[in-house]
Amino acid sequence: MSQRMQQGQPMIVMSEDSQRVKDQDAQDYNISAARAVAEAVRSTLGPKGMDKMLVDSMGSVTITNDGVTILKEMDIDNPTAEMIIEVAETQEDEAGDGTTTAVAIAGELLKNAEDLLEQDIHPTAIIKGFHMAAEQARAEVDDIAEDIDPSDEELIRKTAETSMTGKGAEVNKEHLSQLIVDAVSGVTVETNDGENVVDLEFLNIETQTGRAVGESDLLEGGIVDKDPVHDNMPTDAEDADILLLNEPIEVEETDVDTEVSVTDPDQLQKFLDREEEQLKEKVQQIADLGADVVFCQKGIDDLAQHYLAKEGILAVRRAKKSDLEFLSEVVDAAVVSDLASASTEDLGFGDVTRDEEDELFYVEGEDAHGVTLLLRGSTDHVVDELERGVNDALDVVAQTVSDGRVLAGGGAIEVELASRLRDYADSVSGREQLAVEAFADSLELVPRVLAENAGLDSIDTLVDLRAAHEDGDVTAGLNVFSGDVEDTFDAGVVEPAHAKEQAVTSASEAANLVLKIDDIISAGDLSTDKGDDEGGAPGGAGGMGGMGGGMGGMM
Ligand SMILES: Nc1ncnc2c1ncn2[C@@H]1O[C@H](COP(=O)(O)OP(=O)(O)OP(=O)(O)O)[C@@H](O)[C@H]1O
Ligand SMILES: [Mg+2]
Repeated sequence: MSQRMQQGQPMIVMSEDSQRVKDQDAQDYNISAARAVAEAVRSTLGPKGMDKMLVDSMGSVTITNDGVTILKEMDIDNPTAEMIIEVAETQEDEAGDGTTTAVAIAGELLKNAEDLLEQDIHPTAIIKGFHMAAEQARAEVDDIAEDIDPSDEELIRKTAETSMTGKGAEVNKEHLSQLIVDAVSGVTVETNDGENVVDLEFLNIETQTGRAVGESDLLEGGIVDKDPVHDNMPTDAEDADILLLNEPIEVEETDVDTEVSVTDPDQLQKFLDREEEQLKEKVQQIADLGADVVFCQKGIDDLAQHYLAKEGILAVRRAKKSDLEFLSEVVDAAVVSDLASASTEDLGFGDVTRDEEDELFYVEGEDAHGVTLLLRGSTDHVVDELERGVNDALDVVAQTVSDGRVLAGGGAIEVELASRLRDYADSVSGREQLAVEAFADSLELVPRVLAENAGLDSIDTLVDLRAAHEDGDVTAGLNVFSGDVEDTFDAGVVEPAHAKEQAVTSASEAANLVLKIDDIISAGDLSTDKGDDEGGAPGGAGGMGGMGGGMGGMM
């Protein structure tokens, strides 16, 4: 044993550059980072929430109200903040909507936990209490949720409308929600045991700029937003055999750069003739297969275009890969990547019709296996935000149809849950009780922020809401437009129960993950800049990126 150790001096095991923050400081640091993220998205919550404009390092602009999109686009370089972003991503994957809610609740849980820590309550007690509260909340959600009839189109449409409110899609929400409900029902099958299975794989979203949102449309089958490659080709084909091709109809290029030196004109002619032969052969193969229409993902040589036109075949080049994949479902075809070994079985069957005005093809299968939602809007930004809103609503409707449980929104569910959790807290002993109560308070952030964003007094609103729930009005929520407390379920503000369960679970898990950390060891510079309340995550902490994953195992 060295002399130093014998003398009881600390042994230094970390390199000089590394930094370490411990105990209370570590908790403060982490909680501030997480709260900063939550506060960055709060102002977008609800129908009256505002949008954010995000400019990336390349200067491209995204305007959105969608929590997960904002957090993904923000250039956040802080491991704790990244854990909170994961909450939004999980929510997006699992529920498709409610990302802002999940993140805002996680931030509020941490804020309330900070108060408990200040009262010297041990983090383990808080973690346990939060965990108990989350479990209880899930059970209560299930108890409060109403079971709906999957054929109750009216109610299902309301869930779509609620999810679109406050987003770019809101302007035409009646029209869009109907399209969404029809789209989902177009891809829903009832299994033998009576369950509804929604397969969104069979649903394709296409966007087009230049027209009004209200002109968005639902089409049976798929669309291909391309022109025929040759003017002399047919533009429509009924009962057509359709080839989906992932190989260029061009002269095959060699992998290596070859140089051909010709010494007399005959040789050149022979060379060109050979190329022509190759193209002719490819077109002949297509004709022999019996294809009436070819959607090709790659290029088509000018000469081949001419031969295809002569054969009376409609051909389109450079079709999108995703379109071909979707069409393969619609017309039941294989995507062929080698013409020479293709057979007639690889072809699909359906109708191809040309829409001259929009310059696109509609492709319908014999008994259409898929639907396309064609979203229209004046500009790219409008269409992009529309697509995000519609995607949320599609997930919401799909969930409602398959899960069948819905809740009253506008803060109704959160206030009811809070009230039930406070009752439950009475049965919890020890300091965990305080954590359960803090959890209840945290849920009430949702109605508070809904009110705040609508320019209403959040305290008054919460007092009114609590009073209504005390009187047994389980579905009393906030009408953000009038400022009144009303039965939001009857008013049509309806949300799927599953999304709420998910939001509560992931918010509490993320908060617990953060609370459990008492030591931050960073290989690089660890800035202790706590960030400001509005401005997103604190900077610094570079070099700790790898910690996010490592911390996952600490739960
Ligand atoms: N007409 C309405 N009146 C009152 N509250 C509403 C209304 N429509 C929606 N809400 C509420 O707004 C909240 C949802 O807001 P928002 O869609 O902005 O956030 P999110 O769903 O949590 O996240 P994101 O949509 O960004 O993934 C829900 O609590 C919902 O009940
Ligand atoms: Mg939403």
